[in-house]
Amino acid sequence: MAILVTGGLGYIGSHTVVELLNNNFEVIIVDDLSNSEKFILNNIQEITGKKPIFYPFDLRRKELLHQVFDAHTIEGCINFAAYKAVGESQEKPLDYYENNLFTLINILQEFKNRNISNFIFSSSCTVYGQADKMPIDESALLKTPESVYGKTKQMGEEVLKDFANAYHSKICLLRYFNPIGAHPSSLLGELPIGVPNNLVPYVMQTATGIREKLNVWGNDYNTEDGTAIRDYIYVVDLAKAHVAALQKLMTNTSVETTIDIFNLGTGKGSSVLEVVEAFEKANSVSVPYQICDRREGDIEIAYADASKAEQELGWKSETTLQEALKTAWNWQKYLETKTN
Ligand code: UD1
Repeated sequence: MAILVTGGLGYIGSHTVVELLNNNFEVIIVDDLSNSEKFILNNIQEITGKKPIFYPFDLRRKELLHQVFDAHTIEGCINFAAYKAVGESQEKPLDYYENNLFTLINILQEFKNRNISNFIFSSSCTVYGQADKMPIDESALLKTPESVYGKTKQMGEEVLKDFANAYHSKICLLRYFNPIGAHPSSLLGELPIGVPNNLVPYVMQTATGIREKLNVWGNDYNTEDGTAIRDYIYVVDLAKAHVAALQKLMTNTSVETTIDIFNLGTGKGSSVLEVVEAFEKANSVSVPYQICDRREGDIEIAYADASKAEQELGWKSETTLQEALKTAWNWQKYLETKTN
């Protein structure tokens, strides 16, 4: 019996595959390598001593997906496969809606036809927009996200809730705050394509000299140092939450519809300048920066109330910002040895 992990060679997917293998799950990865690299598969094997089954194809190819379900007894899915670049999603909305939603529906059709349950969906705190109060718990009002990317996450959640209600299935929506860092082995991490959008990859490329300066998007927010606040969660901690969520779904033998929703964050907000400072301290490097205008679409502040995950999954974030940023830097150095 196996767990299907779509996008299993991607950033959060690969870390989750490692945790699943460490917990003795059989893992089947489907990944089209559109935002990941084949060497990650070997690195997963190097870390765990186990090789997951890997199918390189685009999940829009229904017939290939059907064959995977025919070939294996799949008892659950963690669905990471999705496009995730916010700016690009505005330029190519149809590609985002098609890729992020059709692939989800294709998997759910297989689940429905074969009466499979246990589906975990990668959602995002972007579904809350600028929440009215901090920390954000799961009952906070959902707001229509500004980006097409964010809308695909919110729509994906709706598709899954309707699926669960109609077919009495068990699903779990995991709303990530800002994932950062890399595997302690330095063999897995984030691989941004082109100029990174997200803060930590940009900080790393500035520290290493690929970028001249970090642009800090705005210092006129209503926060202590004026820069925006986010909840940065270490990717290995995040990966472990998936295993806990899966175990909860799989040990729930009730035939009732189950819709679990969890915020995954540390519960602590850090400003952009605090992240820069923590990175510099953790790695004894300097990160030159300049203050720029606010970035369009950015919110002021978001951090999680992750107490529901602690109570119901027995999970909580364990890694400090500095520790996480140290792993990020080690990964950057590993990447340099690969390209040199
Ligand atoms: C972004 C996405 C969000 C997505 C998340 C995934 C936007 C508007 N939102 O969130 O939908 O779910 O990534 O991790 O892109 N910053 C700088 N300089 C930089 C980069 C970032 O100052 O070069 C600041 C941003 O203004 C923000 C903070 O750092 O205040 C974090 O930015 P980022 O890593 O892009 O994450 P989010 O914007 O929170």
